[in-house]
Amino acid sequence: MPETPELDPNNIPKHVAIIMDGNGRWAQSRGLMRLMGHKAGVESVKKIVRAADELGISILTVYAFSTENWKRPPLEVKTLMGLLQSYLESELADLVKNNVSLRCIGEKEKLPDAPRQVLEKVIATTAENTGLILNLALSYGSRSEIIMAVKKLAEDCVSGRLQPDDITENLFSQHLYTGGLHDPDLVIRTGGESRLSNFLLWQASYSEIYITETKWPDFDRLQLIEAIYNYQQRQRRFGKTGEQVK
Ligand code: FPP
Repeated sequence: MPETPELDPNNIPKHVAIIMDGNGRWAQSRGLMRLMGHKAGVESVKKIVRAADELGISILTVYAFSTENWKRPPLEVKTLMGLLQSYLESELADLVKNNVSLRCIGEKEKLPDAPRQVLEKVIATTAENTGLILNLALSYGSRSEIIMAVKKLAEDCVSGRLQPDDITENLFSQHLYTGGLHDPDLVIRTGGESRLSNFLLWQASYSEIYITETKWPDFDRLQLIEAIYNYQQRQRRFGKTGEQVK
């Protein structure tokens, strides 16, 4: 058994965002259909939500479906939507019991009716919960999110409610799906690829990035602790010098 690193309880990242990659490869390497990888991936989501809560993380954002994922084969899209729906149905009671508040970032109006209705129900039922915020990125793409915010601000300028000079980084952030949420401190990508794949491009400007070769279905509590331990060894400078932030 690998040893569990000792975490500094005073330096737990507030917001952890995860690109859950590698489900397909996990399945293929076992001679299984890709869809089985997504099914196993849901079990990892359940474990990591519990672990994030126990470790004192305040916000966990998981990239469950991107705007580009609609281009996958129809059976894979259908399976992912079905898994989303059954996850939400089966986890609702536990989310309530554990005081988790479920939210969604992305074009949720594009989801098929059945998962969308369950999603709305879980969001409404858990809205007043004060524990972990579990943020599902669904039909999410950072570029389209940025365009959405630009359009809203442009409309406000055209109507005279806003002057271009009043547009600040803070105001812009408020117009994103994540408005009001702390930016991610740590972005984890499983599956070994080194890219952001249109995920939280604005919000991750100063996030620490941790990439692991582990494929999402194999990512567990110990691996999350290792990612946080790695984060805790870094010095976040936000553009300043090392001396300034000591
Ligand atoms: C990337 O793996 C993963 C996805 C596109 C979907 C992630 C979805 C889940 C973990 C399950 C559903 C989520 C919830 C919240 C119920 P990939 O298929 O691109 O893997 P590959 O790179 O190995 O092909």
